[in-house]
Amino acid sequence: MKILAIETSCDETAIALLEASGGLRNPKFEILENLIASQIKIHAPFGGVVPNLAKREHLKNLPILFKKILNSRFQILNSLDLICVTVGPGLEPALWTGITFAKSLINADNRGYNISVNLRKNQHKSAKSQLFGVNHLDGHLYSFLLPQKNQKLTTKNLKLKTIFPAIALIISGGHTVLLLMKNLKNYKKLGETRDDAVGESFDKVARLLGLPYPGGPEIEKLAEKGNSATIDFPRPMLNQKNYDFSFSGLKTSVLYYLRDMKNISVNQRGNQRQSAAAAAVAAAFQKAAFDVLITKTIRATKELKAKSIMVSGGVASNSSLKNYLKLKIKDEKLKINLLIAKKEFCTDNAVMIGAAGYINFLRKKNYKLDANGNLGL
Ligand code: KG4
Ligand code: ZN
Repeated sequence: MKILAIETSCDETAIALLEASGGLRNPKFEILENLIASQIKIHAPFGGVVPNLAKREHLKNLPILFKKILNSRFQILNSLDLICVTVGPGLEPALWTGITFAKSLINADNRGYNISVNLRKNQHKSAKSQLFGVNHLDGHLYSFLLPQKNQKLTTKNLKLKTIFPAIALIISGGHTVLLLMKNLKNYKKLGETRDDAVGESFDKVARLLGLPYPGGPEIEKLAEKGNSATIDFPRPMLNQKNYDFSFSGLKTSVLYYLRDMKNISVNQRGNQRQSAAAAAVAAAFQKAAFDVLITKTIRATKELKAKSIMVSGGVASNSSLKNYLKLKIKDEKLKINLLIAKKEFCTDNAVMIGAAGYINFLRKKNYKLDANGNLGL
């Protein structure tokens, strides 16, 4: 199936073109185009994403990205099988821009964007049913099917029989969820955060340290220069016998620590002692957050006898997390697959929306083409 995918749930405008094959038994993806227009510079001065600015930028970027694909892939766009678009969760004004754009592509009367595509004639489907709403979280969840480190833009054959049952951890700016995937089609939520998402806590701690938005990559960079053992931040809910998380207390502990230490901040230029102290805070905070995520994920893996661990979402692009996780798996002598997509498919992108759309199309799980900011799994 030739799939066009559109993602506008937050601050990345993304369009991808992919070819999917293999069905539910052996899904494979060839990524033909993967375009992203990032709005980071626009939102950075505000310290977070401003919904109406995001909407304005998506409206501007969607036709630009689409025309880039149109120029080089005209033939494919004329014989598409599926158009997938994120319908939630996310910022509703931003989600609507993608949904409206997707609709306009198949609506010959709507020349608002002055572009249109043809969906390949399919005996069983009307053009409308080939417009497919996708849950952004399914996008992250199914990103383990996308190329992993050292793979090019085509996925190798994953032997699904050796993968399931699997424990899936989705860690992004809006979500922290632990799931049991029984097979490709069936999954069950085991637990989630009771307050802040882990990515959100990275963003908030970064702001406390005077680092720019988004905070996750900045904390990762700063943490490399610090010693995580010098400060003992709490590990919230670590020993509770459930699979839930909490990160707001950890952030508050960082806040109190910084207040007591007279506001350590990396933007106090030229002060080496201050910078070293800030690096230690970043390293210790990151270690505390990852300890909880990893401990609970490993516990679920053992208790539910999983064969794999999948990690996805923006925070999964953090190299220290991957290293800690690998070490822990080795220490515990677990014989499991660790499936983490390439960095570019951990943070928001449209390829994952196309992949999840393909799987959900096959398992007949459609979503209404309405923006739903609070859509769950
Ligand atoms: O999945 P994503 O791109 O968007 C959402 O669906 O939320 O995740 C964005 C989140 C942000 O909170 C960002 O700070 C965090 O992922 N993030 C990271 C890293 N890269 C992005 N957190 C920790 N380390 C990173 N390298
Ligand atoms: Zn996301």
